[in-house]
Amino acid sequence: MEIKLTQFSRGSGCGCKVSPAVLEEILRDTGENFLSKNLLVGNETKDDAAVYDLGTGTALISTVDFFTPIVNDAFTYGRIAAANALSDVYAMGGKPFLAIAILGFPTEKIPAAIAQQIIAGGKSICKEAGVSLAGGHTIDSPEPFFGLSVTGIVPIKNLKQNSTAEQGDLLFLTKPIGTGMLATAVKREILCENEIQHAIDFMCSLNTLGEELGKHEFVHALTDVTGFGLLGHLIELCEGTNLSAEINYSKVPLMKGVKDLCAKFVYADNTMRNWKAYEGKVHGIGSESLLTLCDPQTSGGLLVAVNEKSEMEFLSLAAQNNFQLESIGRFTSPKEKLIYIL
Ligand code: CO
Ligand code: CO
Repeated sequence: MEIKLTQFSRGSGCGCKVSPAVLEEILRDTGENFLSKNLLVGNETKDDAAVYDLGTGTALISTVDFFTPIVNDAFTYGRIAAANALSDVYAMGGKPFLAIAILGFPTEKIPAAIAQQIIAGGKSICKEAGVSLAGGHTIDSPEPFFGLSVTGIVPIKNLKQNSTAEQGDLLFLTKPIGTGMLATAVKREILCENEIQHAIDFMCSLNTLGEELGKHEFVHALTDVTGFGLLGHLIELCEGTNLSAEINYSKVPLMKGVKDLCAKFVYADNTMRNWKAYEGKVHGIGSESLLTLCDPQTSGGLLVAVNEKSEMEFLSLAAQNNFQLESIGRFTSPKEKLIYIL
């Protein structure tokens, strides 16, 4: 019997995240938190991970990320989920070193050999990243899910946050947009899995560049683009620093096949849910840009705010790491809307 993992899940990849509005409601009035003075980054700025000062010039980074299957192949799903979970450590400028697996699957419907393949995929990515996958927890669950709790480390001087962009900073994105839409096309059998191999390769590629970016002062802010889409994560950067931003839409890199799917109105369910949360903060959206900029990304690229004076230095650093990048926009003074799409 062939097991199609995506048929067990309603949302796929980071598209199974609860909406920003629901998340805000869940977190509201949950009582007072114990806030250690050593906690450098908590939940206030919706950053990628928590950061705790160890008092030695070094900080510990802690994060967790898991989701339901975005592809049918178990090994590939494990790889994507692991690369996605590790990304939040890189997005703080840090280096992950330890991971604990979180796994759920319907034991009556999916054989243990499939779950084994998911773990094997996760392990292969951890090995590539130099991370020890050192344990985990597995439950019987109607919807399969997999991910990692990841611990990393960062010299405090290298720590990069999402709330520290400055006016004039240029914006760069290290992976093209489109995983939500392409995965939806596969789920609806409009495309077959090997037609989105390029997107799978992007989702399996590690955001190790983030650790390198941590070493450079001209990188003012850093995050990764995941379930809330490029718009959602850029809005977090703007709100964190009280600035607005412009996006030059024609410069935003899109994955192969995305424009075609936009024309056919094939998009992930969460695209509209994301848009509803942002529409009051955005000016200039179009029919294609709405579908792409709100597309929930799984294991998406790094979104980087770079000092405008250091553009050349940044581009040559990116090129040394095999990224051919072009600025997709910039931060401006605070205006009526947070985001202006040009
Ligand atoms: Co993140
Ligand atoms: Co995350």
